Amino acid sequence: MMRMIALLVAFGLAANVANAESIPAEKVKEKAQTCAACHGADGNGTTGQYPRIAGQYHDYLARALHEYKSGERKNAIMAGFAATLSDAEIDALARYFGAMPTKLDDLSKYEQGD
Ligand code: HEC
Repeated sequence: MMRMIALLVAFGLAANVANAESIPAEKVKEKAQTCAACHGADGNGTTGQYPRIAGQYHDYLARALHEYKSGERKNAIMAGFAATLSDAEIDALARYFGAMPTKLDDLSKYEQGD
Protein backbone atom coordinates (compact mmCIF):
# COMPACT_ATOMS: atom_id res chain seq x y z
CA MET A 1 0.00 0.00 0.00
CA MET A 2 2.76 2.47 0.96
CA ARG A 3 4.60 1.57 -2.19
CA MET A 4 1.46 2.22 -4.19
CA ILE A 5 1.08 5.66 -2.59
CA ALA A 6 4.73 6.47 -3.19
CA LEU A 7 4.30 5.48 -6.83
CA LEU A 8 1.22 7.66 -7.20
CA VAL A 9 3.00 10.61 -5.59
CA ALA A 10 6.01 10.12 -7.87
CA PHE A 11 3.73 9.91 -10.87
CA GLY A 12 1.89 13.05 -9.82
CA LEU A 13 5.14 14.96 -9.45
CA ALA A 14 6.39 13.72 -12.79
CA ALA A 15 3.12 14.76 -14.43
CA ASN A 16 3.44 18.25 -12.94
CA VAL A 17 6.96 18.60 -14.23
CA ALA A 18 5.85 17.34 -17.64
CA ASN A 19 3.08 19.96 -17.73
CA ALA A 20 5.43 22.73 -16.75
CA GLU A 21 7.93 21.64 -19.39
CA SER A 22 5.41 21.15 -22.15
CA ILE A 23 4.05 24.70 -21.93
CA PRO A 24 6.72 27.39 -21.74
CA ALA A 25 5.82 30.55 -19.81
CA GLU A 26 5.68 32.72 -22.94
CA LYS A 27 3.17 30.31 -24.51
CA VAL A 28 0.95 30.51 -21.43
CA LYS A 29 1.12 34.30 -21.58
CA GLU A 30 0.19 34.18 -25.26
CA LYS A 31 -2.82 31.96 -24.53
CA ALA A 32 -3.86 34.21 -21.67
CA GLN A 33 -4.20 37.15 -24.07
CA THR A 34 -7.38 35.56 -25.42
CA CYS A 35 -8.78 35.48 -21.90
CA ALA A 36 -7.71 39.08 -21.26
CA ALA A 37 -10.35 40.40 -23.68
CA CYS A 38 -12.93 39.69 -20.97
CA HIS A 39 -11.09 38.81 -17.79
CA GLY A 40 -8.55 41.63 -18.19
CA ALA A 41 -4.77 41.46 -18.63
CA ASP A 42 -4.55 41.59 -14.82
CA GLY A 43 -7.24 38.91 -14.44
CA ASN A 44 -9.62 41.22 -12.62
CA GLY A 45 -12.29 41.51 -15.31
CA THR A 46 -12.56 44.25 -17.93
CA THR A 47 -16.09 45.07 -16.67
CA GLY A 48 -18.27 43.83 -13.81
CA GLN A 49 -19.86 41.44 -16.29
CA TYR A 50 -16.79 39.22 -16.26
CA PRO A 51 -15.59 37.36 -13.18
CA ARG A 52 -12.29 38.20 -11.52
CA ILE A 53 -10.01 35.22 -11.81
CA ALA A 54 -6.75 36.79 -10.59
CA GLY A 55 -5.64 35.30 -7.30
CA GLN A 56 -8.43 32.73 -7.26
CA TYR A 57 -7.36 29.25 -6.08
CA HIS A 58 -5.78 27.63 -9.12
CA ASP A 59 -7.56 24.34 -8.51
CA TYR A 60 -10.90 26.18 -8.46
CA LEU A 61 -10.07 27.83 -11.79
CA ALA A 62 -8.93 24.53 -13.30
CA ARG A 63 -12.05 22.79 -12.12
CA ALA A 64 -14.29 25.50 -13.59
CA LEU A 65 -12.49 25.19 -16.93
CA HIS A 66 -12.80 21.39 -16.93
CA GLU A 67 -16.50 21.73 -16.15
CA TYR A 68 -17.08 24.21 -19.00
CA LYS A 69 -15.24 21.81 -21.28
CA SER A 70 -17.29 18.79 -20.22
CA GLY A 71 -20.57 20.74 -20.20
CA GLU A 72 -21.08 20.11 -16.49
CA ARG A 73 -20.98 23.88 -15.99
CA LYS A 74 -22.94 25.58 -18.71
CA ASN A 75 -21.98 28.88 -20.27
CA ALA A 76 -22.02 29.39 -24.02
CA ILE A 77 -19.04 31.76 -24.04
CA MET A 78 -16.76 29.76 -21.78
CA ALA A 79 -17.72 26.42 -23.33
CA GLY A 80 -16.22 27.66 -26.60
CA PHE A 81 -12.96 28.77 -25.02
CA ALA A 82 -12.56 25.76 -22.72
CA ALA A 83 -13.16 23.40 -25.63
CA THR A 84 -9.92 24.58 -27.26
CA LEU A 85 -7.79 23.96 -24.14
CA SER A 86 -5.85 20.78 -23.37
CA ASP A 87 -5.60 19.54 -19.78
CA ALA A 88 -2.05 20.90 -19.58
CA GLU A 89 -3.19 24.30 -20.88
CA ILE A 90 -6.02 24.40 -18.34
CA ASP A 91 -3.54 23.66 -15.58
CA ALA A 92 -1.07 26.27 -16.83
CA LEU A 93 -3.69 29.01 -17.28
CA ALA A 94 -5.23 28.27 -13.88
CA ARG A 95 -1.80 28.65 -12.25
CA TYR A 96 -1.02 31.77 -14.31
CA PHE A 97 -4.17 33.64 -13.29
CA GLY A 98 -4.17 32.13 -9.81
CA ALA A 99 -0.73 33.63 -9.14
CA MET A 100 -1.79 37.19 -10.11
CA PRO A 101 -2.47 39.87 -7.49
CA THR A 102 -6.13 39.61 -6.57
CA LYS A 103 -8.93 42.09 -6.14
CA LEU A 104 -11.25 39.33 -4.99
CA ASP A 105 -13.45 40.37 -2.12
CA ASP A 106 -15.66 38.60 0.35
CA LEU A 107 -18.97 39.79 1.72
CA SER A 108 -17.74 40.56 5.23
CA LYS A 109 -18.13 44.33 4.91
CA TYR A 110 -21.68 44.13 3.62
CA GLU A 111 -24.79 44.06 5.77
CA GLN A 112 -27.05 41.12 5.15
CA GLY A 113 -29.59 42.11 2.50
CA ASP A 114 -27.28 44.58 0.68
C1 HEC B 1 -15.73 36.71 -24.49
C2 HEC B 1 -15.44 36.84 -23.08
C3 HEC B 1 -14.61 35.78 -22.38
C4 HEC B 1 -13.38 35.29 -22.76
C5 HEC B 1 -12.55 35.67 -23.97
C6 HEC B 1 -12.99 34.33 -21.73
N1 HEC B 1 -13.94 34.27 -20.75
FE1 HEC B 1 -13.85 33.17 -19.03
N2 HEC B 1 -15.69 33.81 -18.50
C7 HEC B 1 -16.49 34.67 -19.24
C8 HEC B 1 -17.79 34.78 -18.61
C9 HEC B 1 -18.98 35.59 -19.10
C10 HEC B 1 -17.74 33.94 -17.46
C11 HEC B 1 -18.88 33.65 -16.45
C12 HEC B 1 -19.59 32.41 -16.96
C13 HEC B 1 -20.54 31.77 -15.97
O1 HEC B 1 -21.47 32.44 -15.52
O2 HEC B 1 -20.33 30.59 -15.64
C14 HEC B 1 -16.41 33.36 -17.42
C15 HEC B 1 -15.98 32.50 -16.43
C16 HEC B 1 -14.69 31.99 -16.34
C17 HEC B 1 -14.19 31.19 -15.25
C18 HEC B 1 -14.96 30.82 -13.97
C19 HEC B 1 -14.77 31.93 -12.97
C20 HEC B 1 -15.43 31.69 -11.64
O3 HEC B 1 -15.24 32.52 -10.73
O4 HEC B 1 -16.12 30.67 -11.47
C21 HEC B 1 -12.89 30.89 -15.54
C22 HEC B 1 -11.93 30.08 -14.69
C23 HEC B 1 -12.59 31.48 -16.82
N3 HEC B 1 -13.68 32.15 -17.28
C24 HEC B 1 -11.35 31.39 -17.43
C25 HEC B 1 -11.10 31.85 -18.73
C26 HEC B 1 -9.89 31.59 -19.46
C27 HEC B 1 -8.69 30.83 -18.90
C28 HEC B 1 -10.03 32.18 -20.69
C29 HEC B 1 -9.06 32.15 -21.84
C30 HEC B 1 -8.75 30.85 -22.36
C31 HEC B 1 -11.32 32.83 -20.71
N4 HEC B 1 -11.96 32.60 -19.51
C32 HEC B 1 -11.81 33.59 -21.76
C33 HEC B 1 -16.10 35.35 -20.38
C34 HEC B 1 -14.95 35.13 -21.11
